[in-house]
Amino acid sequence: MRRIPACIVTGIILIQLLFAGCGTETGELVAEIYLSRKVDSVLSLMTTEEKLGQMNLLTSDWDVTGPTMRDQYLEDIRAGRCGNIFNAHTVEYNRKLQEVAVEETRLGIPLMFGYDVIHGHRTIFPIPLAEACSWNLELMKRSSELSAKEAAASGLQWTFAPVMDLSRDPRWGRVSEGTGEDPYLGGLIAEARVKGFQGTDLSDPFTLAACVKHFAAYGAPEAGRDYHTVDMSEITFREFYLPPYRRGIEAGAVSVMASFNDLFGVPATASGFLLTDILRREMGFTGFVVSDYSGIEQLQDHGVAADRQHAGELALQAGLDMDMQSVIFAETLARSLEQGKISMGEIDAAVRRILRVKFQLGLFDDPYRYFSEEREAAVVFGEELMDHALVSARESVVLLKNEPAGDRKILPLTAPGSIAVIGPLADNQLDMLGSWHAAGDHTKVVTLLEGIRKRFTSSQIRYEQGCDFYSADRAGFSRALSLARNSDVVILAIGETQAQSGEAASRSIPDIPGIQEELAMELIATGTPVVVMIMAERPLSFPQLDERASAIFYAWHLGTRAGDALADILSGAYNPSGKLVMSIPRNAGQIPVYYNVKSTGRPADPGNKFTSKYLDVPNEPLYPFGFGLSYTDFEYGEIHLEDALIHMSDTLHLSIPVKNTGAYDGHEIVQLYVRDLVGSLTRPVKELKGFQKVFLSAGEQRTLHFTLTADDLKFIGKDLEYITEPGDFKVFVGPDSERLREAGFTLVQNTTGRN
Ligand code: BGC
Repeated sequence: MRRIPACIVTGIILIQLLFAGCGTETGELVAEIYLSRKVDSVLSLMTTEEKLGQMNLLTSDWDVTGPTMRDQYLEDIRAGRCGNIFNAHTVEYNRKLQEVAVEETRLGIPLMFGYDVIHGHRTIFPIPLAEACSWNLELMKRSSELSAKEAAASGLQWTFAPVMDLSRDPRWGRVSEGTGEDPYLGGLIAEARVKGFQGTDLSDPFTLAACVKHFAAYGAPEAGRDYHTVDMSEITFREFYLPPYRRGIEAGAVSVMASFNDLFGVPATASGFLLTDILRREMGFTGFVVSDYSGIEQLQDHGVAADRQHAGELALQAGLDMDMQSVIFAETLARSLEQGKISMGEIDAAVRRILRVKFQLGLFDDPYRYFSEEREAAVVFGEELMDHALVSARESVVLLKNEPAGDRKILPLTAPGSIAVIGPLADNQLDMLGSWHAAGDHTKVVTLLEGIRKRFTSSQIRYEQGCDFYSADRAGFSRALSLARNSDVVILAIGETQAQSGEAASRSIPDIPGIQEELAMELIATGTPVVVMIMAERPLSFPQLDERASAIFYAWHLGTRAGDALADILSGAYNPSGKLVMSIPRNAGQIPVYYNVKSTGRPADPGNKFTSKYLDVPNEPLYPFGFGLSYTDFEYGEIHLEDALIHMSDTLHLSIPVKNTGAYDGHEIVQLYVRDLVGSLTRPVKELKGFQKVFLSAGEQRTLHFTLTADDLKFIGKDLEYITEPGDFKVFVGPDSERLREAGFTLVQNTTGRN
């Protein structure tokens, strides 16, 4: 079998000899020089067409989200016109394509295979928005690590994840892929996920190259409509939307995807401000930037490019390196070069960045290193993946309500004689996988019904679908109601299908679709206790149901082990601990509704009409950011500040006692917020600055310690730079963004002599 051609290998060996004597003490700098020499040795052999081929990313004919512009991708690979493939996986399939690249092209440069491994590859974990509700960074890191392992074993090297698009708008279907509304939490998750995917060494064949996306501000489309215009002040952009991407890049992500939207009037794909000034100059990003699906082509529809060639020039010159599926770089940049509209230097810079990652992945050492059938068989759906899918699903669930129905709370269920499992999501495998479920296999999914059957072996369990998601057909109601009347408890699973969320799935009114809420109301009216499980990928509003139901879970789309996790929670084998990372609106008109709002000059006052509020609903969401209950209760003591006055260079130490006063052991996510009382710019009324997820046994009390420094108090000032201003602050600690203990402190300038 032919490997990398002799000329490249000789070049690499010469370079290896050149640096052989350097030793480890010369460190990263030598490694960097060594890497760039290797890259240049390959680059120097390439024709313009081959270079443009490396800048070309084409989809195979699996899983497409846009027009498939090339059905001759095999010929393109053979001719060196396509250096990267996406939407192709399995060892058997990808190896064949790799053989074409390595054996049949002039230089034998290996292909890099990318795929949307967003929340698992074959074994599917909860959708990212759900997993973020665990507030467990180690858990999310592990999910990314295991997804990488499974995907790499299936012949992939690159994932189009993590999605770091902050969003305050549940009308936008892609909130499912993100981390919610908070920039601080989003940043920490970005770091955890990038480190999880990439590990410490990209050449480790159990890791994937990460891709921070969609750069930038894709999560703020006007009116929540996917792909729509984004516009906001640069201050808001830098302060809220940028930090999660930044943190992912600082964590070492080697690629970034430009977003579809425009921002400040320029489509991201053609924005030198985003792709060069911010990304490379400010953030120091050294990897490559890929367009989103036919993003370059779309520059014509945006109305900034006159034709395909013009679009290619704009994208390249903005700092975009790889063209996903427009085939514009490959087809038009040579002409632009001849016409002197772009330079070979610009092409070389892009190719260098791409080859660099291919070297880092070890593809030049062995282009077949990701293609082992034995490894694939051993890893895919392996025990560690399936176990983690359960752990992660349990931690993602948020208990919203558990009020007494009669003389006791319904939950956890104590050995009911009979259980009615009802609803279109109760025995549903496909939708549990959620949107962007990559190569997830729905036949492996444990449904809620199956999970309940396995767990409640001494109860009589019966199922009725009741209704579906779209039609107004109430034919199934009577059977469902009669089942409810003849059961001790109803577990009702309603919400969205996986196709009702995700990309191109914006909804102007994000409520529970169809007649599902009516079914819920009628079931509640039977008098049999009903546990409502809302399974969806975005915060849906359900104010009427909320008023009537005594027990509600936000149960998301939890992946392969969904039913097992929910059965563990229903039975009390696992005590729910998730907390919302996005506010649940009362109705669509409240959107955007988020916790870190500004005060306004007329903060809401119930006694004064002329203040900032609605006539018909409160300002507050139905459930706020950070909210989530447990089967046990936690009591918070007072905040203790070590010193209420700190200098810029000091650290503020504070502590708070938290006690588990209920009857169950459980996790609590203790959250810390601050408010800058007087600033040169208006400041949010609360900003998350810390949290701890702690386990407390029933009756246990623990004092939790937090610290804050001036750096935690910085914000984007008028000059678009981070500043920290002295003055008075409030600090809050509590179980969510509304029920908070508070204290105050003052930050003062350093006195002379202090640093
Ligand atoms: C999505 C990206 C995705 C790409 C490739 C696009 O439609 O916006 O997030 O990575 O398709 O599948």
